[in-house]
Amino acid sequence: MTHPALVSGRTAVITGAASGIGFAAAEAVAALGMGVLMIDLPGEKLDGAAERLAAKGATVWAQGADVSDLSALEMIAAAAAELPSVTFLFNNAGMGVPSTTLGGAKAWVRTLGVNLWGVIHGTMAFSPAMIAHGETALIVNTGSKQGITTPPGNPAYNVSKAGVKSFTEALAHELRNTPGSKVSAHLMIPGWVHTGLTAASGAPKPDGAWSADQAVAFMLQSLDRGDFYILCPDNDVSRALDEKRIAWAAGDLIENRTALSRWHPDYAEAFKVFLAK
Ligand SMILES: NC(=O)c1ccc[n+]([C@@H]2O[C@H](COP(=O)([O-])OP(=O)(O)OC[C@H]3O[C@@H](n4cnc5c(N)ncnc54)[C@H](O)[C@@H]3O)[C@@H](O)[C@H]2O)c1
Repeated sequence: MTHPALVSGRTAVITGAASGIGFAAAEAVAALGMGVLMIDLPGEKLDGAAERLAAKGATVWAQGADVSDLSALEMIAAAAAELPSVTFLFNNAGMGVPSTTLGGAKAWVRTLGVNLWGVIHGTMAFSPAMIAHGETALIVNTGSKQGITTPPGNPAYNVSKAGVKSFTEALAHELRNTPGSKVSAHLMIPGWVHTGLTAASGAPKPDGAWSADQAVAFMLQSLDRGDFYILCPDNDVSRALDEKRIAWAAGDLIENRTALSRWHPDYAEAFKVFLAK
């Protein structure tokens, strides 16, 4: 079974399509007979990825654009009116640069611009036509577990992905309350995936990570089931462990614990006991 939006002869729009999860998704939907509009930063990486996919017999259109630029995506969406109807929009482009809460505004502006505004821009540029054509369609936005349990390390990335979660939840609600809409929204939450974001080019896949193909296969199965939250495990972290971590994070507020108590030495024993329950 595949989701009825992922049908031969229709168009998939994928951002961050030149690498990792985006490229694996492009390959997967092309194999179902969809044409793929691949969007990524302009350059050799995108051109090469488009050539590789086209060489497999896929119908491919490649458009270089920075997703933090709304007008660039609007221009691509206007041109896409000539293509078969868009029934799959995967707002997936993302990046990470080091950040702290105490300085370095540039890292925050760039991270939020790409990871959060990129998702909002993609949705605003492509969703009106997807609603208007009246066919069953999907919008999938890529968030992260870091946007849910918000671990210490890269707060700008966490904030961007927490924003993607909130935005996508609101989008799902609005779409199901929009008369005539057959578009649904979903949140892709990858685990640890071996991609350009997490490893140097050519590095072997660590045992704990999933491949991008595994993450995309899981995403397609979850979409088939109609899941909103596509909570991917990996070889190190099971769904059961994710559920515990998410419940503990929500418990900080409910139990009036300190922020990010999971990483506070005073709570180390309590967290260990909670995990073992
Ligand atoms: N790999 C993981 O373990 C992991 C975990 C959680 C979430 N994610 C998310 O998955 C998504 C895909 O990342 P990936 O792991 O496949 O990494 P990747 O680096 O292989 O792919 C990301 C793609 O996004 C593109 N991109 C970056 N900035 C862009 C911009 N401004 N405009 C257009 N394209 C841009 C990159 O060029 C790249 O091709 C990201 O949103 C990432 O945050 C990944």
